[in-house]
Amino acid sequence: MEKLDREAIAAMRRSYGEKGLESLPADPFKAFADWLFEAHQNPFIVEANAMVLSTLGTTANGVGEAISTRTVLLKDISEGGFTFFTNYSSRKAHAIELNSQVTLLFPWYPMERQVSISGFAEKVSEQESSEYFATRPWSSKIGAWASAQSAPLASRAELEERFKGASEKWPEGTDVPRPPHWGGYRITPISIEFWQGRYSRLHDRLRYERSNTTSDWEVTRYYP
Ligand SMILES: Cc1cc2nc3c(=O)[nH]c(=O)nc-3n(C[C@H](O)[C@H](O)[C@H](O)COP(=O)(O)O)c2cc1C
Repeated sequence: MEKLDREAIAAMRRSYGEKGLESLPADPFKAFADWLFEAHQNPFIVEANAMVLSTLGTTANGVGEAISTRTVLLKDISEGGFTFFTNYSSRKAHAIELNSQVTLLFPWYPMERQVSISGFAEKVSEQESSEYFATRPWSSKIGAWASAQSAPLASRAELEERFKGASEKWPEGTDVPRPPHWGGYRITPISIEFWQGRYSRLHDRLRYERSNTTSDWEVTRYYP
């Protein structure tokens, strides 16, 4: 099979556009909603609501601290935060219980854009989780019962077996309850940075940070 050699990898680069980031709305949620809409419209971006979540937890043996990172889907923007849904027994959930500070990254490369968010995660209400769970397709609901997310799994067959067991308990067409270990986290941001690629690596970076004295946002431009 062909592969990229060292020179080819080192030579991988694109030059970015002319379109600049002169100013953004005063409200970062408005700015984010505009960019999310544009990303969703862009035919080269699949899953514009996919975001990379980083957490700080412990190592597998519990001795030291360990950063871990993975993709999750943004499912709501409300009450001043960004919400995703997951398994409350997963590795990320354990990390959040230990340290609620997390980061989110939206990598919208085809638009030469990224948004990075730093904030604090907390569980959404059980009612909110149940309401969203009810909107999921039947197979996703059964999947949530079948998966002990982040735990070691002996074989693929074991997972399929658990899926079958849950689907016999709640056949298609019946109401599937939300598993108690499944729900949402809302991330309340303390900073939101918008990055737009520009020519000659002179990119634009505008970061909203919560003012220490008021609840307002201060916007600072940073060197690229
Ligand atoms: C595009 C994409 C979307 C995903 N969305 C979610 C999600 O919304 N919730 C979730 O728990 N896992 C999601 N995953 C799986 C996670 O990346 C991860 O593998 C899983 O949550 C276990 O992570 P953990 O062991 O670090 O807790 C998604 C993966 C991809 C590639």
